[in-house]
Amino acid sequence: MLKTKIAVFVSGGGTNLQALIDAQKTGTLHSGEIALVLASNDQAYALKRAEQNDIPYSVVKRKEFATQEEYEAKLKAVLTENQIDLIVLAGFMSILSENFTAAYPKRIINIHPSLIPSFCGKGYYGLKVHEAALAYGVKVTGATVHFVNEIPDGGEILLQKAVAVHKGDTPEVLQRRVMEEAEWVLLPEATEMVSKSLQKG
Ligand code: GRF
Repeated sequence: MLKTKIAVFVSGGGTNLQALIDAQKTGTLHSGEIALVLASNDQAYALKRAEQNDIPYSVVKRKEFATQEEYEAKLKAVLTENQIDLIVLAGFMSILSENFTAAYPKRIINIHPSLIPSFCGKGYYGLKVHEAALAYGVKVTGATVHFVNEIPDGGEILLQKAVAVHKGDTPEVLQRRVMEEAEWVLLPEATEMVSKSLQKG
C-alpha cells in the first residue's frame, strides 16, 4: 500500500507539526508520510523543524498575490507538484476560501484549541480562544480535529479531547496544557485515521 502523502500547512511555532514528526518516528503515524511543509510566512519556526527533519518546505505568502484566487491557484500548484493527498492545517493563519476547500473534500483537517462548537468560528484563534474560555468561566475545555469546509471551524468533527481548566490559569498556561494534553495527541491520531482511509493500492 502506498503511504498517503501529507502536506502540513503552518504559520507559527510548529509544535503541532513537531507532534506529527514525532508520531512518524514512533509509528503512531504510519499510513501517511509528511511530504511537504507549507508556511504562510518565512519567519515561522515550523520551517526550522521541517529543515531539521529533512522535510521539503515551501513558503507561499498571500500578500505576494493580487487576489485570493491567484494565491489559492499557487497553493494548488504546489500541492499538485508534490502529489499531496491530504492537507493538515496546524496553526495555519491564512484564509482558505470555499473555492479552495471544495477542491479537497474530506482531504483537509484542522486542529482547533477548544471543544467545538464552543469558542470557535471567525476571530477565535490562538490565545483568543483561551481568553474567551477563561472569560466565560468554563471548567473544561480541550481541542477538536475536524474536516475543513467553507464554514470557519464548521466541518465534520473527527476527534475531541477534554482538558481541565485550573484555578488561576492564565491564557498562556491554559494554551500550553491544551497543546500538551490534547492537540499533540489528537492531531497525530486523526492524521493517521484519515491517512489510512485515503491509502491507495
Ligand atoms: C496554537 O494556538 C494551536 O492551538 C493552534 O495553532 C497555534 C499554534 O500552533 N492549532 P503551532 O505551535 O504552530 O502548531
